[in-house]
Amino acid sequence: MHLAHLRLRDFRNYGRVDADFSPGLHVLLGDNAQGKTNLLEAIYLMATLRSFRGVGGAQMVRHGQNGYFLSGRVVAQGTREIKMYWSRHERKLTLDDRPVRKLTDFLGALRTVVFCTEDLQLVKGTGRPRRRYLDLLLVQTRPGYLALLQRYAQVVRSRNAALKQFPPDPTLVESYTDALVQCGNALRQQREELIPQLLPLAQRAYRQIAPAAEEFHLAYAPSVRGDFAVELAQLRERERRLRMTLLGPHRDDLQLLLDGRAAAQFASEGQKRSLAIALKMAQADLLMARHGTAPVLLIDDVMGELDLRRRSGLLPLLDRVHEHRGQAFMTCTEESWPRELGRRLQRWQVKAGRISPW
Ligand SMILES: Nc1ncnc2c1ncn2[C@@H]1O[C@H](COP(=O)(O)OP(=O)(O)O)[C@@H](O)[C@H]1O
Ligand SMILES: [Mg+2]
Repeated sequence: MHLAHLRLRDFRNYGRVDADFSPGLHVLLGDNAQGKTNLLEAIYLMATLRSFRGVGGAQMVRHGQNGYFLSGRVVAQGTREIKMYWSRHERKLTLDDRPVRKLTDFLGALRTVVFCTEDLQLVKGTGRPRRRYLDLLLVQTRPGYLALLQRYAQVVRSRNAALKQFPPDPTLVESYTDALVQCGNALRQQREELIPQLLPLAQRAYRQIAPAAEEFHLAYAPSVRGDFAVELAQLRERERRLRMTLLGPHRDDLQLLLDGRAAAQFASEGQKRSLAIALKMAQADLLMARHGTAPVLLIDDVMGELDLRRRSGLLPLLDRVHEHRGQAFMTCTEESWPRELGRRLQRWQVKAGRISPW
């Protein structure tokens, strides 16, 4: 899969961009604050409808303008055209010039995996970024997962609202409990099934990226250990006191272990960074295995943070992407690539919101 054409209007520091990209490895070179990350953000936004910086639409509209417009032509088996417009008053999203009604129909059009500094939160942060990682991977690989996830989130919201009423109406709360258990069990099952597919890929990636020999293990840590309905019933009094749903997949976690110890507490900074990158490499490999085409990799400044040995750990992945006629966009302030890569790179200069071939 590759992004063949990108058009930006009033997005971040870009006024107008129209650029054609071939498959392969693209390097975006430029000083700080020129728009390199913004460009990756735009591509990721078209793929997931979210910013990897975790901000809303208003922040991405170019200062002084009303709205941004993005479009992308994606070539995989066929060609798809994504168009997005966002302003405070109006949002439009079309795929092949038809309005998108169901997110499920849209989300496979462009598949990306982003590598960015925020990834460190996968190791250091709360469970939320790890749940999000699992969910995005399942959305990208399992039809039906997104609908299930949305249904579950809706049930949790309704149930929490019922628990917040004063005094809560037990019949109303119970009426949501059945749906909670049913959707929750289905989510847990899909997350459980993903782990054995993810684990060997993550372990291989970690061995490539980390020079030392420690053993990486990841394990699903569901908030429900046994029977969801039974465990929920045991929490009835506490839920009434705290007025929220205390158990279920919205509280799941993914355990990351190095030599059997929790990485968040015991791993060094370098190991944490390697772990975060390994998780993203595994995501890319899983997408390749599942779809037979490579996702578009968006690699932001990661190279600058890695020493030479770790940097070459990314090469096999870039090779695979290259072989699959996929695409990678990599930003950096100065070229510091392993020499093997140099010949195959297509270079772009990013300067003050403009992009041009180097
Ligand atoms: N909404 C916006 N409108 C205009 N400029 C913006 C907006 N948001 C960020 N910028 C500008 O974008 C630049 C940062 O771009 P970024 O892509 O993060 O740089 P880098 O090349 O270092 O990755 C800064 O100059 C910042 O002021
Ligand atoms: Mg940047």
